[in-house]
Amino acid sequence: MFADNVPPRRTEHVADKKNIHLTILSRGTTPLRLSYTCSMIEMQYNFPLLPTQGKQWQQRLADAVAALVPEDSDQLRPTFRQRHLDHKQIAAKWLQSDPENTHITCGGHHGTLVSLLAAGLAGKPIAVEAVTYTGIIEQARMLSCPLIALDYDSEGMTPESLRAACKGRGVAAIYTMPTVHNPLGCVAGLARRQAIVAAAREFNILIIEDDAYGYMALAAAPNYAMLAPERAFYVRGLAKSYAPATRTGFLVAPSRFSSDVDSAIKNSTTGTSLPHNAAALSLIADGSLDQLMQQKLTEGAQRNAAARALLGAAASPGAKSAWHLWVTLPAGLDAPTAQRLCEERGALVSGAQGFTVPGTPTADGMRVALGGELDPARTLEGVKIVAEVLAS
Ligand SMILES: Cc1ncc(COP(=O)(O)O)c(C=O)c1O
Repeated sequence: MFADNVPPRRTEHVADKKNIHLTILSRGTTPLRLSYTCSMIEMQYNFPLLPTQGKQWQQRLADAVAALVPEDSDQLRPTFRQRHLDHKQIAAKWLQSDPENTHITCGGHHGTLVSLLAAGLAGKPIAVEAVTYTGIIEQARMLSCPLIALDYDSEGMTPESLRAACKGRGVAAIYTMPTVHNPLGCVAGLARRQAIVAAAREFNILIIEDDAYGYMALAAAPNYAMLAPERAFYVRGLAKSYAPATRTGFLVAPSRFSSDVDSAIKNSTTGTSLPHNAAALSLIADGSLDQLMQQKLTEGAQRNAAARALLGAAASPGAKSAWHLWVTLPAGLDAPTAQRLCEERGALVSGAQGFTVPGTPTADGMRVALGGELDPARTLEGVKIVAEVLAS
């Protein structure tokens, strides 16, 4: 639905009398979706949650608020001025990183944005898989960074394609998700990561790794901050492993960028939310988050296997415990049409158009998120709809 009174490039969400949520777009904006939140099966939001989490988070946040010390007025001041070494220590121990190079952010998006700002990447070319996460497409547009689409295979971006791009248009950095890519779901093995690092060193480019989903692949190869600490920014939000409500994430950055990272955090948010950080870190410190991730792995593996059984060969190879699948479309069916057909039958999915590097052809695929619904039976009903559309 379009409206003339919505400012250019803005999207407004409204609910009508029947609580049907409509997305109203201004002209010139790519249509997103019309979502009927009462009846539609949600497979666009990619945030796996378990029913126990609401109560647990309420308790942790309440404990963190109760632990505030009213006489300590520093707790009312911006956190960027304070060095919460205890928080950094807990995070670094969990991430196996150096506390000196470990920073607390407001989540994964913030970690990526801070990396781009701190490394002076605004306006510079960033190479990504030709199908990549919508968030980096948006951040790159806002920072005027041209995105360079790389070829990918079942392990993500190929070193050959990266080298060709470096020799051709020039590349300042890559953004990638080597452990459970969004939306492709694939995982890069050690040899692939080493080849990417070799190319990055040869052409002196930076690496931004977004590890939002890494916990979904057990025994994955070491991350880029471990393989190339001199040039890799490692972003680890808690939105997927726990929940977006934590508004807490971590960034491990090369030490030469430490003060620029502090400055980017200060200038983007004036620091993070102390009680939110304390609550999230309490879950890490006592092992509750690891325990929950294990439960999500088990449930993710069940949902993934059941969805693959329904989708057959259309589901691309990928991590077996991932809560999202990349589906390739049959010849003659394009991504926006496939998404629309699913919507018309009651399932919200994400066509490749939202993951496509601007200026490149839209891939014939779509992402099916398996965690938008708490009830796995409802998710599988949605997957059945996707399978019907693929077969129609
Ligand atoms: C790859 C990736 N990075 C980051 C985010 C957002 O993370 P956060 O909510 O921690 O900002 C998402 C969420 O969809 C994501 O898929």
